[in-house]
Formats: sequence, C-alpha cells, structure tokens
Amino acid sequence: MQPRRRIGKTDIEVTAVALGCWPVAGITSIDVTQEHSEATVRAAFDAGINFFDTAYMYGYEGESEKLIGQVLGNHRDEIVIATKCGLHWQDRNCVRGASPKRIIAECDESLQRLGTDRVELYYLHAPDPQVPVAESAGAILELQQAGKVLSAGLSNASVKELTDFHAVCPLSAYQPHYNMLQREIEEAQLPWCLENSVSTMVYWPLMKGLLAGKLSRDHQFNEKDGRQKYPMFHGEEWDRNHDFIDRLREIADGLGRSVPDMVIAWTIQRHGITAALCGAKRPEQIRESATALTWALSADAVSAIDQAIIDRGPAVSRGAV
Ligand SMILES: NC(=O)c1ccc[n+]([C@@H]2O[C@H](COP(=O)([O-])OP(=O)(O)OC[C@H]3O[C@@H](n4cnc5c(N)ncnc54)[C@H](OP(=O)(O)O)[C@@H]3O)[C@@H](O)[C@H]2O)c1
Repeated sequence: MQPRRRIGKTDIEVTAVALGCWPVAGITSIDVTQEHSEATVRAAFDAGINFFDTAYMYGYEGESEKLIGQVLGNHRDEIVIATKCGLHWQDRNCVRGASPKRIIAECDESLQRLGTDRVELYYLHAPDPQVPVAESAGAILELQQAGKVLSAGLSNASVKELTDFHAVCPLSAYQPHYNMLQREIEEAQLPWCLENSVSTMVYWPLMKGLLAGKLSRDHQFNEKDGRQKYPMFHGEEWDRNHDFIDRLREIADGLGRSVPDMVIAWTIQRHGITAALCGAKRPEQIRESATALTWALSADAVSAIDQAIIDRGPAVSRGAV
C-alpha cells in the first residue's frame, strides 16, 4: 500500500498523489473519450491512488462525478472523494454561486451523481463576492452535521477568507494552485495552513501539462484546447518555461526518472504540501505521476532543481478562477 497522509486533524488518510478529475470531464481536454476517462480513473486506483478530486462543475452535466461513481462505486470504502460546490455553468460560462441554499442543493446533487451518501472532503470551490464567506461556511457546517460531508475545505482563497471560513466551520483542507514556478502561497496561505493544521492540496502541479515536458516548443494548440487562455502558454513566458524544462530534463535524466515523475516528487516533498492533485486524460499519464509516491529526491537533487527554479524566476501567476 502507498504511504498515506491525514487530511487536517481528521483520521481520513490519503495518498500524496490524487487523481485530479477535471481532464476526464472532457470540457477543455481535447480527444478525451468516455473509454479513456474510465480507463484513467481505473488506472489511478490500480496504481494505489486512493484520493479523487472532483467538483460539481467538472463537466457540463457533472460527468466527472458520475464517472467516479460508475468506475469506483464497488470500491467506495477504499477511496476518499473530495468534491466542490459554489461554481456552476450558465450558458456554458462558469459562474459563482455560493448561497447556503445553493450549496445544500449542490451537495445533494453531487452525492446522487457520485452514487454515495457522503463525501470525505467538501470544498467551497471559490468564495462568492455576493455572499459573505462565513455564510457559505455555515452551509458546509450544516452538511457536516448532517453527515453528508466528513470534512470541510476551501479553494482559491486569501488568508482573510480562510480565517473567516475557519471561524464558522473548521477547515481541514485548502486547495490553491501551486507548482515549481507558481509559489505565491508560500508567503501567506501555506504558513497559515501549517499554523492551523489545515492540509494543503495543490492543483496544477504540472502547470496544466507544461511541466510534464512533453509539449514541444513548436506545439500548435488545438483551438478547443482550454490552456491557451493562460499566460504560461504564450510568448516570452512559453520560451522561458521551455528553457526551464530543458534544465529539468537534464536533472531527471541524471536521476533516471521522467520529468513529470520528478516534478510531482518535488511537489509532494515540499514542507506543508499534503497532496498534489494530478490531472490526467490517459491511463499512462496517471501511472507515471503515481510513481512519485514510490521514491524521494535526495538533498542534492532538490538543490539542483531549486537552483533551476531560481534561474528561471517566478512565472506570471493566476489561478483557475
Ligand atoms: N480548485 C480549483 O479551482 C482547481 C482548478 C484547476 C484544477 N483543479 C484540480 O487540480 C487537478 C489538476 O489540474 P489540471 O488537471 O488542470 O492540471 P495538471 O495536473 O497540472 O496537468 C494535467 C495535464 O497534464 C498532462 N499530463 C499529465 N500527466 C502527464 C504525463 N505523465 N505525461 C505527459 N503529460 C501529462 C495532460 O495534458 P496533455 O496530455 O493534454 O498535455 C493532463 O491533462 C484538476 O484535475 C482538478 O482536480 C482545481
């Protein structure tokens, strides 16, 4: 069995690599069929991953949650499901909506799609500027008291929002974007989480696939590929990221590991990071990311990577919402 880490102060234990279940929803990942998605979820479980990160809005019709229920329903007690509320689709635009009424209704819909009576971790996907975060937290506390939710999380939030939420509904997990080049949470949110025994589960560990090192410099994005809207895939940022990946490749070659394996290993070894939420749209991708669970980087390897990061400098950073 792969080693496990606790979510916050709970006794729920997860692998440090989770399957991020956004790409399998098929909205912005191109060429993803139902068969690929089912095989990817199954491959994650077979590789020893017990942690599955999804959301109400992963898929226009909740495809991601449905998939987890269908593929892993028979293994319900062996897996940990995290899902999220507070973002939904309106005419195919992602909008916020985190009133208590909406949160309670979304939770019931999520449980139905997942084919379960509870989720181990339930996040507010992003604070809603129209609703005080304490009110959204109150709804999640109510769900926890009803036994539908076993622990609470907050994503895409500032320290002020974390503090306001935590005062009403004790948090077990925080979910920000974080990777080798986007590390701004180290300034404030990460220390806050460490101080409050809140787990940090990071999204975009592979920077939406860029740090997997398999997109060539002259890669032409399909017009439906949702990654194009992010600055790291353009112009000078793109070139500098590729120079950085060349450095990573040299280090990974010296270790006899692949680039994504090494990038994930670095991420889950960082102080305060509980899990990396690794997206994948093919079984072989999550198998490769899961190998990071089986080894640790030496101090020399970490130094070499950290020097490459310093030489690159921080990337332009923005989250998903
Ligand atoms: N809370 C939030 O607001 C939020 C926002 C975003 C994501 N998330 C969560 O975090 C998870 C991770 O984010 P993400 O999926 O967008 O990004 P990611 O994990 O950084 O990158 C995933 C992409 O990288 C590529 N990839 C993965 N493994 C690879 C491998 N071994 N070799 C080559 N390419 C590989 C695949 O794309 P290609 O094959 O097309 O290159 C895959 O779709 C999501 O699935 C979701 O659960 C949360």
